[in-house]
Amino acid sequence: MSGITRNSVQDLYEKYRDGETLTMLTAYDAPIAAQVDAGGVDMILVGDSAADNHMGHDDTLPLTMAEALSNTAAVDRAVEDAMVVGDMPFGSYGASMEQSVENATRFMKEAGADAIKLETAPHGETTIDIIDRLTELGIPAMGHVGFTPQRMHQIGGPYIQGRGHTSSAHVDALVETAEALEEAGVFGVVLETVTEETGERVTEAVDVPTIGIGAGRHVDGQVLVTNDLLGLGGEAFKLSKQYADLDAVIQEAVGEYVEEVEDGEFPARENVFDPVDE
Ligand code: KIV
Repeated sequence: MSGITRNSVQDLYEKYRDGETLTMLTAYDAPIAAQVDAGGVDMILVGDSAADNHMGHDDTLPLTMAEALSNTAAVDRAVEDAMVVGDMPFGSYGASMEQSVENATRFMKEAGADAIKLETAPHGETTIDIIDRLTELGIPAMGHVGFTPQRMHQIGGPYIQGRGHTSSAHVDALVETAEALEEAGVFGVVLETVTEETGERVTEAVDVPTIGIGAGRHVDGQVLVTNDLLGLGGEAFKLSKQYADLDAVIQEAVGEYVEEVEDGEFPARENVFDPVDE
């Protein structure tokens, strides 16, 4: 599927400039991506949250480049309209400029991503330089500031950034980082788990769309993890909202199947093959 037929950076900017709120959700495989796309989101993030939401890990750190590329390629094959954003996994960037460019390029060339996203620490010069290089090379890049799960071990937990003593980042640092990312060429910034005031200040400071997850109401767009929205193996988080209960739907369907097989109701006459077609 060619990226040109899907939402481009220019399409997103048109909505942003018209004052419309942008929407983004995650997907890690083709069937969910197809439904999320059909639901009408502007962007699909093939998040490194696949590690915990899709692959059973405790956090995002174990996701490999091979897994991220495989997930992104599956999503690419299923999506017609939304921009597909590949999320660069922990350790896939930052070792050197060469490594970072090579891996970002693989998302576009091998997996069909339309853009990439990478997490940035407060005043994180390394990633800001990488984004500068990527955008020069024609790779649309999104920043990600606030709570950055890849730095979980350093931050100490999923604390709300920009507030009191539990935060490892001050509001000013987050604003300055977003400004530096804008200067480096990002087309948008994901803001994760920050106070609403921080979300608003960053949004006012930059002229690129801010996409919030737990960043309050005064941002330019919203992103959620689709598993949380669907009630699919997820926990209930304050920052999220559950719009369906797929765990219950799946359990009920499986329970019904088990019962029917055990009772000899399935397979039924209409499910079996005769020696000659009727
Ligand atoms: O990987 C992910 O799902 C993300 C979102 C939380 C923005 O980065």
